[in-house]
Amino acid sequence: KHCILLGAPLQEGTGRLGCDMGPSAFRAAGLAGALQELGHSVEDRGNLAPAPRRQLHHANSAIKNLPEVAAWTEALSDAAYRLGAEGMPIVIGGDHAMAAGTLAGFSRRAAEMGRPFFVLWLDAHPDFHTLDSTQSGNLHGCPVAYATGQPGFEGYFPPLAAPVRPDHICMMGIRSVDPAERTALAAAGVTVHDMRAIDEHGVGPLLQAFLRRVAEANGVLHVSLDVDFLDPGIAPGVGTTVPGGATFREAHLIMEMLHDSGLVASVDLVELNPFLDERGRTALLMVDLVASLMGKRVMDRPTRAGTA
Ligand code: ARG
Ligand code: MN
Ligand code: MN
Repeated sequence: KHCILLGAPLQEGTGRLGCDMGPSAFRAAGLAGALQELGHSVEDRGNLAPAPRRQLHHANSAIKNLPEVAAWTEALSDAAYRLGAEGMPIVIGGDHAMAAGTLAGFSRRAAEMGRPFFVLWLDAHPDFHTLDSTQSGNLHGCPVAYATGQPGFEGYFPPLAAPVRPDHICMMGIRSVDPAERTALAAAGVTVHDMRAIDEHGVGPLLQAFLRRVAEANGVLHVSLDVDFLDPGIAPGVGTTVPGGATFREAHLIMEMLHDSGLVASVDLVELNPFLDERGRTALLMVDLVASLMGKRVMDRPTRAGTA
């Protein structure tokens, strides 16, 4: 594969500083080298900058940094749309507000290719707030609502060329949902595998069912990986830790299954906060997970496509 790395040092979507160092930490943790070792070509496009800011006022006074996040969304949406035609983009955040832009841009690219667009959302949170429903005002809690065309973003975030279909989104690892999100997710028809579902069924069968759907539709799959998907015990370098997260083994199994599926077209790596990390261990774990997603394995085994 031809991997294109793009840093997106936005942190205005969180209540906490430090995510702007995420792209640097991924580079320091050896992301490019890990991909090259697996035989991929890697092109690091450096860091993106936001579009010019516009003055924006919203009735919800809790909202923080709306002009900044809107400006990032614009730049990211354009960048994702362009990169989607050039190789396998790995977009490195930055907080999860980044996904407002990446989902919008990659979805637009898939629509142009005439292929259905699917999203695997690996996160403790569904990030399904609208500008009206967010109470924290942290816009990293909103990207999925925006990208699926929920009401209230018009005039603030860029118009969507191809809204993501809610029933094309599978969320895993969810364990912190606000009341407004719970209602809206169910109404929209997003598949939400919360931690209880993972405990009851295991990540393997849940993911396999989704991957089968994507494959049968000849879909394009985007993976959005929030550090807080992982248990804080193995991934402390994140601002929004929630206990009871995915284990090292569950996360690796997901990555290896994604690799074997051959379906992943693009990736977000978000919410790493190097200021909160412990000697880079969260960054190193994230790089190791990306390596598994890109083909690192213990032993060879038969795959759908034959023996890889
Ligand atoms: N639902 C909470 C909020 O809206 C938490 C969002 C956390 N999102 C994230 N990308 N870490 O404030
Ligand atoms: Mn998130
Ligand atoms: Mn999260």
